[in-house]
Amino acid sequence: MIINKREVLIMNYKISPSMLSADFANLDRDLKSVEAGGADWLHVDVMDGHFVPNITIGPDQVKCLRKTIGLPFDVHLMISEPLKYIERFADAGADIITVHVEVEDDTQECIDLIKKSGCKASLVISPDTPIDVLAPFIDDISMILVMGVYPGFGGQKYIPETTERLKGIRAMIGGRDVDLEIDGGVNFETLSTVVEAGANVIVSGSCLFSGDMKENISHFRKIMDGAKK
Ligand code: DX5
Ligand code: ZN
Repeated sequence: MIINKREVLIMNYKISPSMLSADFANLDRDLKSVEAGGADWLHVDVMDGHFVPNITIGPDQVKCLRKTIGLPFDVHLMISEPLKYIERFADAGADIITVHVEVEDDTQECIDLIKKSGCKASLVISPDTPIDVLAPFIDDISMILVMGVYPGFGGQKYIPETTERLKGIRAMIGGRDVDLEIDGGVNFETLSTVVEAGANVIVSGSCLFSGDMKENISHFRKIMDGAKK
């Protein structure tokens, strides 16, 4: 069977709902709906009140979730000192760990520690960071995450300049086996744009958690399959 490039990309499409938009008073119910709704991963947003002006959860909470949720945990660390915490998140059950290139900790050391801890290493860039900073690391990581909003809060509007950044990074990735994830402002209106620009892992919080998760995920898949590349 001959599989063309577009089919390969479709096979690699993943949906990673952001638990930031879940109802934390009914977390078990909401996260079970993510799993039952057919999501591929669970996006776990970790914020320290320092790198970003918001605070969420830590490794102890991730460890609790790991006991009941079977999906791969896609852990997005929005924290100033990732080197201090990478091993704790790995031990808590993270599968993919993503660190910001903007933090002071050495990026290569973060990548090495994530891999040594048994997780897939990923880098994320905020909207004002030039995409070229990723180039030296591209052969050493499994995924690049591009922020479509300034990190810190769910429910923000997609920044249109992100589209060109996605295209540039997809070109930089070339034939490498590196996922390109988009996070922030992805909804029924913006999804086809980010997929057409080359994103294959889609994070979405406020859109997927409003209404029926299963219906929203299947609507997302229809849009992704129909997007032109
Ligand atoms: C923002 C977080 C995102 C956010 C996405 O800092 O990293 O994961 O929750 O939420 P929406 O999809 O509502 O923009
Ligand atoms: Zn995130």
